[in-house]
Amino acid sequence: MKKSIAVEYEDFADYSELPELEQNLVEKAYSISSNAYAPYSNFKVGAAVLLENGEVVLGSNQENIAYPSGLCAERVALFYAGANFPAETIKLLVIVAKGDLLPFDKILSPCGSCRQVLVESESRQTEPFQVILVSQNRRTIRFSSAKDLLPFAFGTI
Ligand code: THU
Repeated sequence: MKKSIAVEYEDFADYSELPELEQNLVEKAYSISSNAYAPYSNFKVGAAVLLENGEVVLGSNQENIAYPSGLCAERVALFYAGANFPAETIKLLVIVAKGDLLPFDKILSPCGSCRQVLVESESRQTEPFQVILVSQNRRTIRFSSAKDLLPFAFGTI
């Protein structure tokens, strides 16, 4: 029997079409990406996590000369949220990137390891959280659940 999975997401020409709260988070994510420590890749990523209590947790990628020891921006932010606000529900995660490696009109799609962390962060709470990805030319896609980014995540089927 053949089966398939469909993933729904919204596509916006410009992040100004998002509600103001979400636009502010996109701007915060861009702003924190300047703090990336990315001397090896020159690829700067920023992440903003909105918690239910209104707290915003920000992260940027942090590299290391022992390359695998570095960490992606979204994992920095999600782990900080887990470490400091373990009981707080995550409402929304924004991920943005800038750098010569990323064409201006392309959206960064997060890496597999981060997706696994996104999925588990979501599974710790009773409701899903939205994921927003934005390109440097402001095109935006929005998922309503982290699970949509990783069908068949590690686990059982
Ligand atoms: N990176 C992130 O921060 N998030 C992703 O989703 C993909 C990649 C970082 C890791 C590394 O510091 C640089 O971008 C190049 O891969």
